[in-house]
Amino acid sequence: MDIQAIRSQFPILEEKVHGKPLVYFDNGATTQKPLSVIHRLSDYYTKENANIHRGVHTLSQEATTAYENARNTIQKYIGAKENHEVLFTKGTTDSINLVAYSFGELLQAGDEIIISAMEHHSNIVPWQLLCERKGCKLRFIPMDDKGDLMLDTYVELLSEKTKLVAVTHISNSLGTVNDVKFIIDKAHGVGAKVLIDGAQSIQHIKVNVQELDCDFYAFSGHKLFGPTGIGVLYGKEEILNQMPPYQGGGDMIKEVKLEQSTYNTLPHKFEAGTPNIAGGIGLGTAFEFLNSLDMDKVHKHEQELLEYATTALKKIEGIQFYGQAKEKTSVISFLIEGLHPYDVGTLLDKMGIAVRTGHHCTQPIMDQFCIPGTIRVSFALYNTKEEIDLFISALERIIPMLKN
Ligand code: ALA
Repeated sequence: MDIQAIRSQFPILEEKVHGKPLVYFDNGATTQKPLSVIHRLSDYYTKENANIHRGVHTLSQEATTAYENARNTIQKYIGAKENHEVLFTKGTTDSINLVAYSFGELLQAGDEIIISAMEHHSNIVPWQLLCERKGCKLRFIPMDDKGDLMLDTYVELLSEKTKLVAVTHISNSLGTVNDVKFIIDKAHGVGAKVLIDGAQSIQHIKVNVQELDCDFYAFSGHKLFGPTGIGVLYGKEEILNQMPPYQGGGDMIKEVKLEQSTYNTLPHKFEAGTPNIAGGIGLGTAFEFLNSLDMDKVHKHEQELLEYATTALKKIEGIQFYGQAKEKTSVISFLIEGLHPYDVGTLLDKMGIAVRTGHHCTQPIMDQFCIPGTIRVSFALYNTKEEIDLFISALERIIPMLKN
């Protein structure tokens, strides 16, 4: 894989921060955007802007075609059977809330929902709200201290009361890659549906929703080289058809009378109001960028970065790693004995190096390890070993400064 050719497509990587070349290691929070996505957004607003699904005029029809083509590109990439199984949302959080609200309407008091101990807050709080609303019970798959889910306990939690299992594909804090195929198959064995939080997956590994056989798969555009404010909920057609609308408004209706309305077909039933048109079109372009890559090579490159950085970090005295699961993507969470993560993150920033510090919206994980947070580096396909060398030498300068 020609990393320099890939880097040349990401102009922000040439920027300086505090006069130092930017080293961007906060890809778990958001990835940078290739020129193709930036130009697509700019072209749309410069030459094509119009509302979609509403006008007979040329611009409106062209914008509609571009938006729907983006849906088709995403459908093919994730292997969905039908394009109307791809719903545009604001992002992963919005996708999960849609399911929690709408699928949640089908649940009854006493039904059980299983999540895991390593979920992002966006895959915890919507289920807590649903349980309060409907009297359902939330149960948890525990995690061991290496950051692997305890799947034997998961199997014991499943029963005919289980209606939904919602787990993350890849942990944003620890990098653990969960065996979601096993989780899905076991849930289906008791008749439960499964939602996979894929916010940290598609940018690192190839995902095929039909092979996984998940019922819902949620992800955000901005973490896979696309714009912010746009995401996707994949859902199986037959389940989406059973679910009531999430929000009411334009485009999601067939007919409106003052007393009562009928609803549009998929995907429009779940897409009320003028959507993020530019975002959807830009997300299609981000998927075209992914299509131009060999994801096996991307994965191999990122695994090399993970190994290289882990080996280098291990040589630093007082390093404690959080998350050493059997299967990991390119995320390293760590602390340095005696140093506060914010101080380390702030000084790294002064040297041009962007990392995330804190609880990473996964407070239960931090509670399990009895820590307030970690320093997290999360790599993307455009990162290099040279950048890791800069990061390690920056740490070697920072540690004595903060300890003295
Ligand atoms: N969920 C994002 C992260 O992990 C924001 O940083």
